[in-house]
Amino acid sequence: MKETVIKLLSYYFGFLMVMQLFLFSACSPDNSNTPEQDPSNLILAQYLKLPTSPFAYENLRVPAYLDASSIETHDNTPSHNPITDAGATLGRVLFYDTNLSENNTISCASCHHQSKGFSDHRQFSSGFNGGKTARHSMGLSNARYRENGRFFWDERAGTLEEQVLLPIQDPVEMGMTLPDLEIKLQSMEYYPILFKRAFGDETINSHKISLALAQFVRTLISFNSKFDQGRALHEISEPFSNFTNQENLGKEIFHSVNKGMCSSCHFTEAMITGVSRNNGLTRELSDIGLEGTTGDPLDRYKFKAPSLRNITVRPPYMHDGDYTNLGDVIEGYNTGISWTPTLDAHLMLPGNTAAKKLNLTSKETEALEAFLHTLTDEEFLTNEIYSNPFK
Ligand code: HEC
Ligand code: HEC
Repeated sequence: MKETVIKLLSYYFGFLMVMQLFLFSACSPDNSNTPEQDPSNLILAQYLKLPTSPFAYENLRVPAYLDASSIETHDNTPSHNPITDAGATLGRVLFYDTNLSENNTISCASCHHQSKGFSDHRQFSSGFNGGKTARHSMGLSNARYRENGRFFWDERAGTLEEQVLLPIQDPVEMGMTLPDLEIKLQSMEYYPILFKRAFGDETINSHKISLALAQFVRTLISFNSKFDQGRALHEISEPFSNFTNQENLGKEIFHSVNKGMCSSCHFTEAMITGVSRNNGLTRELSDIGLEGTTGDPLDRYKFKAPSLRNITVRPPYMHDGDYTNLGDVIEGYNTGISWTPTLDAHLMLPGNTAAKKLNLTSKETEALEAFLHTLTDEEFLTNEIYSNPFK
């Protein structure tokens, strides 16, 4: 009897021991640590200012008034690269990291400044060795809603995933090779951690670099301007109650097919060009634009335009940065469109041998400019989730 009790007791204590071991191992050191004590967070914190739980990039949504519009059908996010919080966080770090250039001097953000709508105030940007880019840097607001998903002024990149690796390898811009970049990033303390969080393991390759950068660029959505506040309350054709009379007149001209016709090419609420067009404003005709990509002479002088969101904060304008202010752009459309055979049909006079003049009065051109000012989204231009994460 006594023996049985002892046996039972020893089973019982044995069981307790096993349970204790089990409980101990289930409660791994990682789980018992606060995020501040997590060793990988301590490593990241030496280099980066990242929030303890990542910013909610995955849940960024366009405003309700856009749900019913066609904009979502223009989203160029491919099914194989959905935005995740950890993926876009990695993309943000890569975007701001000068280690992506050959001599550690230039990051994507050196030519795409948040306060400038992710464009550059310089007509041509400087690369890692002081060389100049052949075209003006493009604003990146709402690039995600570019209808055909092709990138660059001349559409030479077929997808955003393809585009983001090109500046890294460009001999003027960042001057790296992808194999060298992979080795370099693998040797840096913070990248294996960020790649593991984004993609499940620490291996770094250019495919993952491209996915993460493209995810970050697609998070750059801008829909909180004065225009959006009005649009949330009114149909596009109605006067907006939060606009001045001048801004409402400008909005009407922008959207009218008889006046500005601007929305015929800069369309949807993202105000982005669907396909490339020749707007007749190029003064220096050596850059043939889309023809350089397709080889088709019918594409000569056709360019795509970035979204007009935040346009006021990012002069100069056009692929050649040839227009220093918005007044000049509007005056260009009003009186200075030049005819070439590929000029867009919207801007041709009947007979297709001469360019239209919009013939806007000065009151109308000023109103159009006032309307373009309503597209500035201060929250976007200062939002921490898009800002430089480096210490
Ligand atoms: C040295 C300046 C420079 C650097 C560095 C740079 N860019 Fe650019 N970016 C440009 C210029 C200039 C263009 C337009 C080039 C063209 O169309 O020929 C451009 C175009 C783009 C576009 C196309 C936008 C559109 O709507 O088609 C994207 C996206 C972009 N850059 C993202 C990036 C990313 C991501 C990086 C870093 C990996 C980067 N850029 C680094 C200058 C730069
Ligand atoms: C026929 C199509 C078309 C029409 C109509 C049109 N645009 Fe454009 N717009 C373009 C194209 C294409 C570009 C880029 C051209 C280039 O870079 O050479 C552009 C560029 C611009 C830019 C500079 C964008 C940048 O990122 O630098 C502004 C600003 C602009 N347009 C405003 C307007 C306004 C305002 C109107 C109405 C008066 C208008 N556009 C009408 C096609 C058009």
